[in-house]
Amino acid sequence: MPATNAPTGYSRLRIALHWLVFALIAQQYLFKDAMSAAWDRITDGLETGFDPLVLAHVAGGALVLIFALWRLTLRARRGVPRAIEASKVQGILAKLTHVSLYALMILMPLSGFVAWFGGVEAAAQGHNVLKIVLLALVALHVVGALYHQFVLRDGTLARMRRAQD
Ligand code: HEM
Ligand code: HEM
Repeated sequence: MPATNAPTGYSRLRIALHWLVFALIAQQYLFKDAMSAAWDRITDGLETGFDPLVLAHVAGGALVLIFALWRLTLRARRGVPRAIEASKVQGILAKLTHVSLYALMILMPLSGFVAWFGGVEAAAQGHNVLKIVLLALVALHVVGALYHQFVLRDGTLARMRRAQD
């Protein structure tokens, strides 16, 4: 339920965090090969030298976690703009997608940390399963955004582009 004093839109900060996290997650997928190769060497008992792309994966993932927690704090403190719903089912689907995206923005870095710093193979396997779940959720989310933009034409995408403080 949106709070009675729910904001009318997303603030500049919330929009910046949304698109920054999108860019960070995109780079995690685009440059994943360095991290996978380093992990293969570790599990084979070999040494790994310094690789800036591995550092970018660890730091980028850590930032995703920090920004997700920041966004959840903002949601709790300032409320969430009223959802633009075409139907009850679509509204529930959007909410479920958002909740799941937040869960993945937390679980991906956590499983990565446990694998990388704890040397836990099972966590790496979990990370590999979750990466597919996250990709599927982002795809669904983008389809939803495009549906709002081109079929419903209800200004949902504009809410994530222009700030309403
Ligand atoms: C939102 C955050 C993250 C995303 C989206 C992400 C995504 C990915 C992707 C797509 C792969 C490639 C798997 C493959 O196809 O081989 C991968 C591998 C890996 N990531 Fe992440 N990652 C994130 C955060 C982290 C963090 C914070 C760490 C560690 C501190 C980490 C550690 C690893 C490790 C060790 C692998 C190798 C696993 C393997 O190849 O079995 N990840 N990650
Ligand atoms: C890694 C990629 C992405 C993640 C994790 C993500 C996550 C989220 C989350 C959690 C929300 C809920 C609002 C909030 O708490 O901030 C949201 C809203 C939104 N996202 Fe994304 N997003 C991603 C990519 C995209 C892309 C590529 C688009 C556009 C094509 C997009 C368009 C939107 C729009 C329009 C909203 C506002 C929905 C509303 O007003 O109710 N997102 N996103």
